[in-house]
Amino acid sequence: MSIPSDVTMSRIGNVLLSEEAIRRRVAELGREVSAKYVGEVPILVNILKGGFIFLADLVRAMDVDCEVDFMVVSSYADRTESSGVVRILSDLGLNIENRHVLIVEDIVDTGLTLEYLRELLLARSPASLRVVTLLDKVERRKVPVPLDFVGFRIPDEFVVGYGLDCAQRFRNLPYITILDGTDLPPRSPQFRTGEAR
Ligand code: IMP
Ligand code: MG
Repeated sequence: MSIPSDVTMSRIGNVLLSEEAIRRRVAELGREVSAKYVGEVPILVNILKGGFIFLADLVRAMDVDCEVDFMVVSSYADRTESSGVVRILSDLGLNIENRHVLIVEDIVDTGLTLEYLRELLLARSPASLRVVTLLDKVERRKVPVPLDFVGFRIPDEFVVGYGLDCAQRFRNLPYITILDGTDLPPRSPQFRTGEAR
């Protein structure tokens, strides 16, 4: 599978969420999240790779102090769908025992990845565990997962940009766009065994 190398980054697909719409919503999320953690110093656990831009903007929209840490995960799956069997490519450096933890995700699709990560982190006895996701593809859910903060509910379309990739490409688009084009790969081609999300 290959994506042409000469794709113009100025206009990809059909823009679903503009830079301005994302900026406004992330600012609101920063306020919502901060209100939950007044007087605490939460640990924000960012799921890489897709969540890196959202985290960077979210922490700057928060007005409570926090720590950040990262987990790099990959999904074992077929080409079209997450299996929920997650491989940890890089684990947290911080000890989360008795700490307030906020998972920062780019997108929740089937919910399988998040379900796995919640179990994993809950076993480490945090004081609390919440989830913020920028995008929620709620129609695709296979397992119910509690989401404390949601940026946008989006339709069942494959989106890229603002950290989200297609086969590792398009993460640097400042907007979120529905990928189309006949020579681009089908849904979720990044779910190849062992590849970081
Ligand atoms: P889940 O286990 O099905 O919920 O998978 C969640 C992960 O799938 C996300 O963290 C993304 O890496 C990936 N993903 C799901 N939908 C999309 C999409 O539309 N664009 C890019 N990545 C996606
Ligand atoms: Mg990905």
